[in-house]
Amino acid sequence: MVRLPFLSSTQGVPEAAAVPRHIAIIMDGNGRWARKRLMPRVAGHAKGVDSLREVIRSCLDRGVEYLTVFAFSSENWRRPKDEVSFLMQLFVKSLKAEIERIHRNEIRLRVVGDLTPFDDGLVSLIRDGEALTADNGKMNLTICANYGGRWDIMQAVEKMIAASGEAVSRPYSEEDLAPHLALSFSPEPDLFIRTGGEQRISNFMLWQLAYSELYFTDKLWPEFGEAALDEAISSYQGRERRFGRTSEQVVSDKPDTASDHA
Ligand code: IPE
Ligand code: IPE
Ligand code: MG
Repeated sequence: MVRLPFLSSTQGVPEAAAVPRHIAIIMDGNGRWARKRLMPRVAGHAKGVDSLREVIRSCLDRGVEYLTVFAFSSENWRRPKDEVSFLMQLFVKSLKAEIERIHRNEIRLRVVGDLTPFDDGLVSLIRDGEALTADNGKMNLTICANYGGRWDIMQAVEKMIAASGEAVSRPYSEEDLAPHLALSFSPEPDLFIRTGGEQRISNFMLWQLAYSELYFTDKLWPEFGEAALDEAISSYQGRERRFGRTSEQVVSDKPDTASDHA
């Protein structure tokens, strides 16, 4: 069985560091940002790329190890054709423009989701970017594109069953499934951020958000940047992550600084 290098929040109590090890973001509110300025919705998507660049930089500076962003959901195909096609073109354009900078900053890029409906040009750009940055170790940037939490669980179940033999058999456990999830290379998010004011998950990382701290802000994605990220991180730092235990247990589990120095 493939063992994962980190603890699942339901199988044990993961360490909760002061700086979130993994931040996951639903970048929402681009359309409303543009409409408020009497611009077409897609102008908000273009501006959103600047926010993403700033957030990547800020996460890198703060020592965040994994940054995962929701760029296009499996339900976003329901949007007007022109908007979908603009988003695809923007993805191509931004990948081309940013990949060198990503690589220079020693960031490893991954794109996660069902890439089968994407055109060949985009898929090869994605695969080239992933290959170029595969050995980078400063930060893991994951873009979720045509991604859905339910899609992920279903494709993982399919793979788990296909791989099942002597080592993996029924009843299946979480540990049998986890290595097949699209984000199996990363620990679960410590901090989940959604911009744009909506308080919902919209089919993002359903499995992995089990014990993440949820943070919602009314700020629209094109207005989100370093200062807003710091506000989210400081909200996170004020939370008590109990993972099912009592508050008293959490407090007594903390390293005793007095005896540490003895
Ligand atoms: C998020 O912004 C970007 C994508 C879903 C691609 P929206 O386009 O959803 O913006 P609003 O929510 O309509 O303002
Ligand atoms: C979620 O935003 C998906 C992305 C940000 C890519 P949506 O704007 O699609 O979510 P809903 O439709 O408001 O739930
Ligand atoms: Mg939206």
